[in-house]
Amino acid sequence: MVRNIVYNLPYIKNADGSKVPPIHTFIDVFGGSGNVTYTLPPLPYHVERIYNDKDLYVSNFFYVIHTYPEEYKAKLSHLVEFVQTADTEELSALGRGSFKKKEIADRMEYKVLIARGIYKKCDYFGNVIRHSKTPLNKEEMLRGALAFTYQYSFGRNYGSSVSGIKTTNDIQNFIKNIPKWKHMTDIFKEVDCRCDDALEIVNSYINDDKVLFYLDSPYIATTQYKETYPAQKKKEKNDDKNEISLGDFTKMRDALKQCKGRWIFSCRPKATTRTPTGEASYYDPKQAEQIYQLLKQYEGTGKYVVYLATKGMRDELELWGSGISEIMIVNFKPAIPDIEIARHLNITNTNLLKSLKSEYRVLEYSPFLKLVEKSLVG
Ligand SMILES: C[S@@+](CC[C@H](N)C(=O)[O-])C[C@H]1O[C@@H](n2cnc3c(N)ncnc32)[C@H](O)[C@@H]1O
Repeated sequence: MVRNIVYNLPYIKNADGSKVPPIHTFIDVFGGSGNVTYTLPPLPYHVERIYNDKDLYVSNFFYVIHTYPEEYKAKLSHLVEFVQTADTEELSALGRGSFKKKEIADRMEYKVLIARGIYKKCDYFGNVIRHSKTPLNKEEMLRGALAFTYQYSFGRNYGSSVSGIKTTNDIQNFIKNIPKWKHMTDIFKEVDCRCDDALEIVNSYINDDKVLFYLDSPYIATTQYKETYPAQKKKEKNDDKNEISLGDFTKMRDALKQCKGRWIFSCRPKATTRTPTGEASYYDPKQAEQIYQLLKQYEGTGKYVVYLATKGMRDELELWGSGISEIMIVNFKPAIPDIEIARHLNITNTNLLKSLKSEYRVLEYSPFLKLVEKSLVG
């Protein structure tokens, strides 16, 4: 997702119309790849930045580049050398096994098989780190951070490839991109990196009116992150009978309702499911219903919605198709994000935005919810 509203942070208006938001802390609550914190533009005043993710493998990476930047950078060169020279039966067999079809594996260059084998090894290691019962020592942390770097260096494609490594060009791109990881290290030197539960972190700043939370939570109506962010919970006695319980999503809404600061809650806009062959996707009324229930929960809590719409979208008629590609619920009056500002700040994907002929729109919460209601099919 493109999150231009965050990149437009310096342009969010205060109640009195001035442009500088009175925040002293920015918290990327579901930080994931770190992309949002990484691309946050320099602000005209000092803002403490906090990156957080509950996934230990992911947050370990950010902790390491923050805490041991020089050691990490020094080890990156060894990683490149290792990828270029590694040659074992075990790695090539692992690489072979990562293809579903033997005939595809047979067509692959040996170097590609090895590179995919290393990827698989990193995957196993990542899982060990994720489920480690004891605190990691420094050496394990550094190894974990290198494994993470390698795994996240390839564009992941679904279908025939688990890793995105399909040609020797992909390996070359990994090598070419090493300076980007070094740059990221320089940025995260200034960022406080945490591995807390999202609710805990929101609750610990709940009375702070100078904080801005960015919440790109796991998306509702997807099967990912069931363990860390369940969408369903058992009905409890005191639950509101009129409201479907959406587990952690409801708890988060309740916490945000109490927040004195500002927040941006990003949620999944499209209700589509892939066909079993993975070739096409179709409108899925069940998913649409779940997204609608989530949006309904924010009635009275969210004040405005910022969404990215295809230019000329005829409101509800095209909402679930290619009409809308981003929804952010906010509790303050936002300035309409400007795609040009994002371009100026060198944010990637803005060309895509241009070619999609998209535009940001801002609506008050109730009219937006009505739009969604009218759009529901079936
Ligand atoms: C949609 S992704 C965030 C993507 C991110 N904005 C990016 O640019 O890559 C959701 C993230 O939430 C994390 N997560 C899931 N449950 C969590 C929880 N209870 N507390 C904190 N983070 C959680 C996942 O590990 C995942 O990285």
